[in-house]
Amino acid sequence: MSQSSGIVYRPRRLRATPRMRRLVAEARLAAADLVLPLFVKEGIDEPVAITSMPGQLQHTEDSLRQAVEAAARAGVGGVMLFGIPAVRDAVGSQADAPDGILQRGIRIAREAVRTVEAETHRPGPVVMADTCLDEFTDHGHCGVLATSPDGEIVVDNDATLERYAAMAVAQARAGAEVISPSGMMDGQVAVIRDALDDAGFTDVSILAYSAKYASPFYGPFREAVDSELQGDRRTYQMDAANGREGLREADLDLAEGADMVMVKPAGSYLDVLRQVADRSDVPVAAYQVSGEYAMIEAAAANGWIDRKASILESVLGIKRAGADVILTYWAIEIAAWLWADVAAPAAKATEGNQEA
Ligand code: PBG
Repeated sequence: MSQSSGIVYRPRRLRATPRMRRLVAEARLAAADLVLPLFVKEGIDEPVAITSMPGQLQHTEDSLRQAVEAAARAGVGGVMLFGIPAVRDAVGSQADAPDGILQRGIRIAREAVRTVEAETHRPGPVVMADTCLDEFTDHGHCGVLATSPDGEIVVDNDATLERYAAMAVAQARAGAEVISPSGMMDGQVAVIRDALDDAGFTDVSILAYSAKYASPFYGPFREAVDSELQGDRRTYQMDAANGREGLREADLDLAEGADMVMVKPAGSYLDVLRQVADRSDVPVAAYQVSGEYAMIEAAAANGWIDRKASILESVLGIKRAGADVILTYWAIEIAAWLWADVAAPAAKATEGNQEA
């Protein structure tokens, strides 16, 4: 080919070698960006496998400790704890019981972090707690129920806020560093901020699940927490059609004092994530939820996709879309790959060096 082929711009130059690709990568994953969600269940002697989330467990208190220690050793940035109580009732009494399973899990997690920090002299994961009633109610809704003037059973926004306030304070007392309201009640961030401050927890942060959509991708999570839910959450979680409304939810949470905001699920809402990231002056999180995990695991188990490459691409996409913090069930495994690889791309060092 003659030298004057007329092509001025040749973007392929920056893709020619692994070293060049690594240098010019716009987004990069780090273990410290990742938060590992963990489930602790009351009254079991052995961890229970979650069938629809291969590799994930309902933990005993003991196996929770080990999982948090593993996350700490892997350099993971945070853990997000969910509790599964032995007894449920209409108002979710165990959610704010001082010795409820989630409060016990929080204490164990803090201890595990301290142990590993003392050993490694590196910061361990921040201990976060999901602040929502659905794991604790016998009807499985994220709030308390009431009968509307039309005789319909509805989730009562303002009565639920009182429960969230009590739950947040109980979690802070147990040692939670981040309170994470995920119930999509109006005003929840403001009420929780007030309650924490009144109880003296001015330094405890709030990660608001701001734009949380009603999604079938939470399906496996329902198994993970033995959910009792009949019906759906469409009167409080958002409609998948609405991007602008997601921004409004994030703006309201910021105005109410959220320290971080979240978009959830991640994969189907990357546009919302990008727009929240562009307007937020606080860190933005995204939750790669149970169904997103299950889909990749299932396809990989069938040999239909490359598991590691798919996991890394799915999480890198969330990062590129603007997430500072990513909740993913693969946090420990990804962290281990990152330590092994340094660079995020899964390619072998020599791959792509040839002219091919
Ligand atoms: C509510 C909560 C849910 C998830 C996180 N927090 C369930 C829901 O809203 O129905 C889902 C997480 C996942 O699917 O991985 N406590």
